[in-house]
Amino acid sequence: MKILIIGGTNFIGPFVVRHLVTMGHGVTLFHRGNTKAELPEVNHVYGDRAQLNDYKSQFESLSLDVVIDMICYTESDARMLLNAFKGITRRVVVISSMDVYRAYGVILGQESGVVELPLTEDSALRSSLYPFKDMPQRALNVPADYEKILVERVVMSECELPGTIVRLPMVYGINDPLSRLSPYLQRMDDKRDAIVLLDSIAKWRGSYGYVENIGYAIALAVTNEKAKSRIYHVGEPETSEQERVSKIGEIAGWKGKVVSLPQEKFPSDWNFPFNTEQDWFVDSTRIRQELGYSEIVPLEEALKRTIQWTRNHPSIQMQPLVAPWLLDYATEDAVLKQ
Ligand SMILES: NC(=O)c1ccc[n+]([C@@H]2O[C@H](COP(=O)([O-])OP(=O)(O)OC[C@H]3O[C@@H](n4cnc5c(N)ncnc54)[C@H](OP(=O)(O)O)[C@@H]3O)[C@@H](O)[C@H]2O)c1
Repeated sequence: MKILIIGGTNFIGPFVVRHLVTMGHGVTLFHRGNTKAELPEVNHVYGDRAQLNDYKSQFESLSLDVVIDMICYTESDARMLLNAFKGITRRVVVISSMDVYRAYGVILGQESGVVELPLTEDSALRSSLYPFKDMPQRALNVPADYEKILVERVVMSECELPGTIVRLPMVYGINDPLSRLSPYLQRMDDKRDAIVLLDSIAKWRGSYGYVENIGYAIALAVTNEKAKSRIYHVGEPETSEQERVSKIGEIAGWKGKVVSLPQEKFPSDWNFPFNTEQDWFVDSTRIRQELGYSEIVPLEEALKRTIQWTRNHPSIQMQPLVAPWLLDYATEDAVLKQ
């Protein structure tokens, strides 16, 4: 197959590229040329996605079977994608997120109630749009009008160009710009005796995915015709945060323990801004049954590779807004002494 990827050179994209090339497909990347990655033999078309239409004749000459959009964030991105590729390719695959579900709106305090889990691809979506618009800092600098619900709606309602949606969980691994393991690993490598978690966070269950596995899942959704007009999500079997941090510690050789404590043990001015009564995990049966997906890197190995990469890249730190549940060392010591 001839495949064009919009993006493809940062975190998840390179793993998609490697799987597709290994499967024998021809890959072209469309990006600005700012982000470099170690990649197998691929073609590059350099440009800004804001001007996708200007590259139409170049795209046409590539005889594309499928276009993957790794960086479709807004309704207008999605419309631009369809305008640029209608009549030029047979299918588009768009990378979405588990943040489309109503459960995520509950976590953010933007929706009421508690959603029953696990989530399936047919679970209710958020009714409140633009989840990050009022946040002073947005993870990965996504635009204020970021809304994957609208992206999906535009892509899946186009009759002339069938779409596939892959909703990703919290992705971790090599080259993770959020360095999701770093706050825990830092504490472990600093030989802290304990990592203190609020008990509601310790028992919170979410879906994660290791980047090499996620890249494989996307490659299957691209190359399998059964994926036409289908929505998939993907994720490892869920664990609680306490189990997950303990597992990371075990693999990292940490001798300390994860301690979970009730809110009253925490400083009175310490407030966690999310609703942890709501878990956030998926049932990924659909992609496993329809596309034959399973994790090609087992969990222990995935964590081992991520720990090694995180240790080798100490300058890539998780942004503070992504880990507001962890205490500073002095506060943590004081809490433990009570
Ligand atoms: N990380 C997670 O936990 C997570 C969770 C759920 C969903 N997701 C989804 O995963 C996707 C992101 O994956 P990724 O960052 O790993 O993607 P990626 O494809 O590896 O990297 C981003 C790419 O976009 C290119 N790019 C950025 N701005 C561009 C522009 N204006 N025009 C053309 N190219 C541009 C960059 O190259 P240049 O800099 O050279 O242009 C780079 O190749 C997003 O859709 C995100 O919502 C991620």
